[in-house]
Amino acid sequence: MNHGDLNIYVNGHPIKIAAADADMSLAEYLHERLDLTGTKVCCGIGVCRACTVGLRNRPDALMEKTLACTTTVSAIADQYVYTVESLSQGGRLSPLQESFLETFAFQCGYCTPGFLMAATAMLDHLKGHRVETSHLERTIETWVGGNLCRCTGYVKYKEAISKVVQARTERGA
Ligand code: FES
Ligand code: FES
Repeated sequence: MNHGDLNIYVNGHPIKIAAADADMSLAEYLHERLDLTGTKVCCGIGVCRACTVGLRNRPDALMEKTLACTTTVSAIADQYVYTVESLSQGGRLSPLQESFLETFAFQCGYCTPGFLMAATAMLDHLKGHRVETSHLERTIETWVGGNLCRCTGYVKYKEAISKVVQARTERGA
């Protein structure tokens, strides 16, 4: 199958995909070709959401989330992928990562990159919007409610995410 020139952007870097790799899953491509192993694969069939990454169709678009295990690289031609490796900047963890640590949100940590990227997409959508406390739980549930944690750390994850949203709301960000 000839896919022509196929490019994606990963964490801001343009990547030219070899035609032979076009049908690889995004998760496999990240691991095998880019050595970005932070994105975890658990079920591999689109159920657990451990492999969630961020995706924008333009650099200035809102971040959506997608499943790297069931998305082929050819399906996201010319789009912008963000993995957990993109979150820390200049050696500093993102506020979400800090909050996950401070709240002891994760146990084995295998599902953590998926929670982080789903919550990062959520924060992108909430930017500039005030979230009423009464709506916060439902909003978080909408964005990360489908992510499975085999260590069952749901309460702490939601607490950690909630703290970041509330801190932003207090700052008016
Ligand atoms: S690894 Fe379970 S949804 Fe992708
Ligand atoms: S922390 Fe172990 S699977 Fe979620």
